[in-house]
Amino acid sequence: MQPTLSDVESLARQAGEILRAGIGLSHKVDYKGAIDLVTEVDHRSEAHLLGEIRRMFPGHRILAEESGAQSGDNCCIWIVDPLDGTVNYAHGVPIYGVSIAFQVDGATTLGVVYDPTRDECFSAQLGHGAWLNGAPVQVSQTSQLNDSLLVTGFSYDIRTNPNNNLDHFSRLSLLTQGVRRLGSAALDLCYVACGRFDGFWELRLSPWDVAAGALIAQEAGAKVTDIHGGSNFLAPHLSIVAAAPLLHPWLLATLQGE
Ligand code: IPD
Ligand code: CA
Ligand code: CA
Repeated sequence: MQPTLSDVESLARQAGEILRAGIGLSHKVDYKGAIDLVTEVDHRSEAHLLGEIRRMFPGHRILAEESGAQSGDNCCIWIVDPLDGTVNYAHGVPIYGVSIAFQVDGATTLGVVYDPTRDECFSAQLGHGAWLNGAPVQVSQTSQLNDSLLVTGFSYDIRTNPNNNLDHFSRLSLLTQGVRRLGSAALDLCYVACGRFDGFWELRLSPWDVAAGALIAQEAGAKVTDIHGGSNFLAPHLSIVAAAPLLHPWLLATLQGE
């Protein structure tokens, strides 16, 4: 048995309520790396989602950020980020969300990103479109970097990896109307999907950061690739470039240093 989009939306809203209930409270913060945080709310949200997915779809495989890969049938895989935007969340900044994708035989067929602060539920079904709270969304028609507003992010090894995206950030800041850094890759992709941003790129993300948002952006008309222009953006530690289709070639060329 496979989930419907409304099953996935319902799960994302349940986890979103766990996040919303804890925002602004003081949290137990553990460090996965020098600046890579995890709070007790990340774990609470993930435990709820894993419990519900196992209850409703026993046998499905789950890949979740805090617990890693869970055994199960490889043909049906859930990819879960229980709290995307943990650093924001730990500081009480209300830009964070839940990201859930469902894959069949390696293709993402359903994706939901829920922002509990704004009660914005972004969703997509492969081949059927993308929606914000049930209303169809589309990417922008922007075709020039000069007219664009972009968003990016920086991976947690920014202090130690020289390939830390700061060069791309400064270059594109001078070529566009601005480059924002919201702190939630899942929401960044959804904001591209609904035309708030014209493009997003980031280096070294994980599948749970982007699986749902990439489907939502693609179904809204965005072109989504890795930094080499290929389709390998879901593999661990790889790059992603998502943009309005007319802008994507210019963004890619700039990131490739042309
Ligand atoms: C992070 C956010 C952030 C991005 C980082 C991600 P997390 O996810 O999406 O925007 O820049 O690379 O790791 O740790 O908050 O789930
Ligand atoms: Ca994440
Ligand atoms: Ca997370």
